Amino acid sequence: MTPDEKKQAAAKAALEYVEVGTVIGIGTGSTANYFIDMLADIKHKVDGTVASSEASAARLKQHGIQVLDLNAVDGISVYVDGADESTQHLQLIKGGGGALTREKIVAAVAGKFVCIADESKLVDVLGKFPLPVEVIPMARGYVARRITKLGGNPIWRDGFVTDNGNIILDVHNLEILEPSKLETELNQITGVVTNGLFALRPADVLILGTDQGAKTMT
Ligand code: 5RP
Repeated sequence: MTPDEKKQAAAKAALEYVEVGTVIGIGTGSTANYFIDMLADIKHKVDGTVASSEASAARLKQHGIQVLDLNAVDGISVYVDGADESTQHLQLIKGGGGALTREKIVAAVAGKFVCIADESKLVDVLGKFPLPVEVIPMARGYVARRITKLGGNPIWRDGFVTDNGNIILDVHNLEILEPSKLETELNQITGVVTNGLFALRPADVLILGTDQGAKTMT
């Protein structure tokens, strides 16, 4: 199977987690896009969706799927999204698409977080994929210096602006042995909005597309 076929297999398996008559949280990226396209076939079964990015909201609307404001809903039953890396403990790096803050908010609200990915995303230790950090623009230099002191090499994602009007620093050269600790430390730097570690709120279910089909880990 190609990587795209593996992403599709994972997205298809996630449809089983869609609860009829509830609001579904929708992630961002190529794997989440496959899920959106498949959700279109059963859109009449859900009460609506909350999107983690403007891009996903636009794709959902193109399919005629209702997109709701998070503040207008009582809850989200399940959140389906991709990841850049996952450990076997379902702690993640996300934010390759720059949507990490809204993704973290939707994941926090959701009763269940189902992560979908091709099997190449499963790693022993997080950090080979540069860790995205969303930063208030005026704090870019200060935050970069603080991250350098922690041992990372922050690179400004030049020309990219998040849906929240902020910038992204991609932090290279990290070997993240204590994801929850680093997630907390980075979020305590003034000027950081949030970082792409999903360790304090990991996924509840990881569905990996493999050559043998979709493999589910909990
Ligand atoms: C976007 C994300 C995505 O989930 C992550 O980048 C994975 O993307 P893809 O499914 O295209 O591999 O966190 O901010």
